[in-house]
Amino acid sequence: MSPIISACFSPFSETGWHDAGTYNKDIKEWPQRGGANGSLRFEAELKHGANAGLINALKLLQPIKDKYSGVTYADLFQLASATAIEEAGGPKIPMKYGRVDVTGPEQCPEEGRLPDAGPPSPAQHLRDVFYRMGLNDKDIVALSGAHTLGRSRPERSGWGKPETKYTKDGPGAPGGQSWTVQWLKFDNSYFKDIKEKRDADLLVLPTDAALFEDPSFKVYAEKYAADQDAFFKDYAESHAKLSNQGAKFDPPEGFSLDGSPAGAAPEKFEAAKYSSNKRELSDSMKQKIRAEYEGFGGSPDKPLPTNYFLNIMVVIGVLAILSYLAGN
Ligand code: HEM
Repeated sequence: MSPIISACFSPFSETGWHDAGTYNKDIKEWPQRGGANGSLRFEAELKHGANAGLINALKLLQPIKDKYSGVTYADLFQLASATAIEEAGGPKIPMKYGRVDVTGPEQCPEEGRLPDAGPPSPAQHLRDVFYRMGLNDKDIVALSGAHTLGRSRPERSGWGKPETKYTKDGPGAPGGQSWTVQWLKFDNSYFKDIKEKRDADLLVLPTDAALFEDPSFKVYAEKYAADQDAFFKDYAESHAKLSNQGAKFDPPEGFSLDGSPAGAAPEKFEAAKYSSNKRELSDSMKQKIRAEYEGFGGSPDKPLPTNYFLNIMVVIGVLAILSYLAGN
């Protein structure tokens, strides 16, 4: 893949995380509970301090959304994030789709749900934030490994150097400080580089350092530094979990694109459950269903999952063609 396109893809990974990472498992109602619901597209949320600079990633995704308007923002953010990881050489993530979007900025979560990079007690802070999402120590360490991609820019987050020997020539807009030497490649070098702490041009945030300081985090960090396959396996599981945080799916179980086991498992058909007490739908109910399907680009005559499935497959095709063209 072209390096320019790869450089665009690393903020996509951050976009999916910032949409999903606002989830609070103790709030039951959707969308108040936050999570992967497309709320990040609204200015009200984009202007949160943690989201500085993400408008650029959104601008790259908007033309795809305009062309395939049936695909929700919530799905598009997660699709772009998983595609970014996979295209950069990372593991295949068992994703499912069908996320419903929030409809207005008043449904955005309040500021402050995403983690700080330099809190007084980094390990405790990471647990406070990720446990609130229903995630565990393994998820925290594995997901932090996403910093194998991309750069930090002082003019956005306040963290990192304006440029280093690894970023001064780009690709993409030059500058910033990366966590790894090959910051367009998804591998386990993030864990190796933090462990060795030997290159002042590579970034180690206080929350990154905590992964080798906290005894429970350290078990996973050491394992991932030594064994890339173990990292990829855990990363794929944790990323799939993160991408579903707080999401409401339509259909409720979601659907997978490739029938992978961790994707949407189709509900087992039970004749008795569906055939008893069958009633004809009222006209007003039929109208309501039609309006709901049409709102998502489907129609009651063509079941939504199939239609939606095709839309997503086309979007993946568009991303793949873009990569191919840019690479030639
Ligand atoms: C563990 C807590 C985390 C903290 C404190 C944190 C903090 C940060 C900070 C400060 C930046 C630099 C932003 C900038 O200056 O533009 C950044 C970038 C990034 N983060 Fe995280 N992050 C965390 C977790 C994650 C997770 C879970 C993911 C993905 C699964 C992720 C993916 C990324 C990516 C890909 C970038 C680079 C974006 C680019 O190149 O533009 N981060 N993060």
